[in-house]
Amino acid sequence: MRRCGVVAWAVAAAISILFVDAADAQQPTLPAEVSEWLERDQARRWATMIAEGDSIFNSGSCARCHGEAGSGGRNGPDLTDTTWVQSDGSLEEIRRTVFWGVRRELLSDPALRFEMNPGGGLDLEWNQYASLAAYVWSLSNETGLPGR
Ligand code: HEC
Repeated sequence: MRRCGVVAWAVAAAISILFVDAADAQQPTLPAEVSEWLERDQARRWATMIAEGDSIFNSGSCARCHGEAGSGGRNGPDLTDTTWVQSDGSLEEIRRTVFWGVRRELLSDPALRFEMNPGGGLDLEWNQYASLAAYVWSLSNETGLPGR
């Protein structure tokens, strides 16, 4: 009986070592110089997305309903607070709201005059939904960027 337990333990240990090895093999350790460079590149891409979202939001239809910099307007809610009525406020869900818009029957407030069209009525490129989500998200979250 005891022997059985020892064998089972040894088999389990061997399997876990195999899996750990496989996981290690998939993740090569990059030289510090390379990983720092990639991190800087990611931060730069994130900043570019937020800037692009800002420009679309404040020059396009979004600001007309949601106010300058999402501060809230008569036809669209404030997007700078942490209250979310259409989602949990995660980046992915904000992107989903921007993509699909908000149909009349889903409006949280029946007194609202207009529904929100998909993409706010704009003809957007695929990556621009992500940029808008990044910008809207940044209005109520720490962006990770210096000075914001
Ligand atoms: C015609 C007015 C209008 C336009 C234009 C518009 N929205 Fe909206 N937006 C709304 C309304 C109305 C809601 C739903 C509010 C509710 O349910 O209380 C909404 C909801 C949202 C939400 C969800 C807010 C929450 O609390 O969950 C996001 C995010 C959003 N809009 C982003 C945008 C972006 C980005 C654009 C531009 C691409 C845009 N909207 C354009 C009217 C508009």
